[in-house]
Amino acid sequence: MTDSVVSPLPIDRTHPLQVPDGTDAIAAEGARKVVFPNGVETWLFTRYADVRMLLSDRRFTAYKNGDAPEMRTEESIIGAEQPGNMIIRDGAEHLRLRRPVSRALVVKRIDRMRPRIQEIVDTHLDAIERAGAPADLVPMLCLPVPSLVIAELLGVPHEHQALFQRTAQAMLGLRSTLAEYEEAAAELGGVLEKVVDRKRAEGVTGDLLGLLVNGDYDFDLEELLFLAIGLLVAGHETTSNFMGLFVLTLFDHPEQLDLLRADLSRVDSVVEELMRHTVSIGGGGLVRRATEDVRVGDVLVRGGEWVAASLYANSDPALCPHADRLDLSRESTPHVAFGFGPHQCVGQNLARAELQIMLRSLFTRFPGLRLAEPLADLPFRTDMLTYGPASVPVVW
Ligand code: HEM
Repeated sequence: MTDSVVSPLPIDRTHPLQVPDGTDAIAAEGARKVVFPNGVETWLFTRYADVRMLLSDRRFTAYKNGDAPEMRTEESIIGAEQPGNMIIRDGAEHLRLRRPVSRALVVKRIDRMRPRIQEIVDTHLDAIERAGAPADLVPMLCLPVPSLVIAELLGVPHEHQALFQRTAQAMLGLRSTLAEYEEAAAELGGVLEKVVDRKRAEGVTGDLLGLLVNGDYDFDLEELLFLAIGLLVAGHETTSNFMGLFVLTLFDHPEQLDLLRADLSRVDSVVEELMRHTVSIGGGGLVRRATEDVRVGDVLVRGGEWVAASLYANSDPALCPHADRLDLSRESTPHVAFGFGPHQCVGQNLARAELQIMLRSLFTRFPGLRLAEPLADLPFRTDMLTYGPASVPVVW
């Protein structure tokens, strides 16, 4: 433990697809005090075992308000009133918001959505084929597919796609001000309120939003709107960034891509290994606060101190042999890419299904797919809470 070392975040990447240099050094120390971009001092943990403990031990709370560490430098957005935001709540209050959503996203239900996801993916691949090479996979596949799927799951009309994408960018933008965030949330909330009214009037229960509105739950309108906004925003930006990063990572490891091309039926375990290897959600990690003194590995965290569980823990050498390497022949790789504990991603089954279908279909349709420009020349989104390529130009 080195409590005298205080590093500023973010830890910059030297390679766009790899864990930043310096992460090993933090793991060797146990944890390091860092200063988040909004000036709040926090313990950053990168060891796999420590990260799982921080995310599952009840002595750490997920509750956050305006004094929490944030990757944004502007006025705190966490402090904004967010009645239906499950990610900043603990215990019964968290479960009340999470349970109806997690019921709708269990594996069995997602499996029933697979044919429809396949249809959406195929339509986008048709359009890519028709337009001809070169094509940019970000606007033509990675972004629209998850965005349409989450909208259909919620039961929100397709006509609002452009609005979702624009408002999600404002809500996840690291340089968005509180005013811009609130404006985007209000705009999206206004549209969703009309959708909610219609579902209530028609007694719809066949989609997630209808179920939340007309099912046996006691959500008030504001909570409902925030729940829906949270799902729309969390539900497409992350999956879309991961898909872009997956494709680039495969191009960057041609021998691994050959393994996938040789046996596309292994796509499920390939997606897990790619999930483990790909870090998109802020180098700052998942933030919690100690409610009392707690020993985590080698470090004594004092009650009231903030901690960040870094997802770079997925490359902790203690996790598996050569954890820093992408190895698609691994059968099952544990990872914390979807978090861990009570807040573990409620949309993970959906994200997996989308990524598996997109990846398998992409390389089935275009077996000779390759990058049209050098990786080093591609633009990346470093101004968002989730990281990913702004463009993935391909030829075939
Ligand atoms: C590759 C795609 C995705 C990744 C990597 C991802 C990652 C994560 C992570 C790491 C967390 C935990 C946050 C924490 O503990 O503080 C989380 C939570 C969450 N995710 Fe995802 N996610 C993805 C896709 C989705 C999708 C498709 C949805 C919606 C259907 C979704 C909705 C949520 C929600 C609502 C939470 C909060 C859960 C809670 O607080 O109980 N995510 N996600």
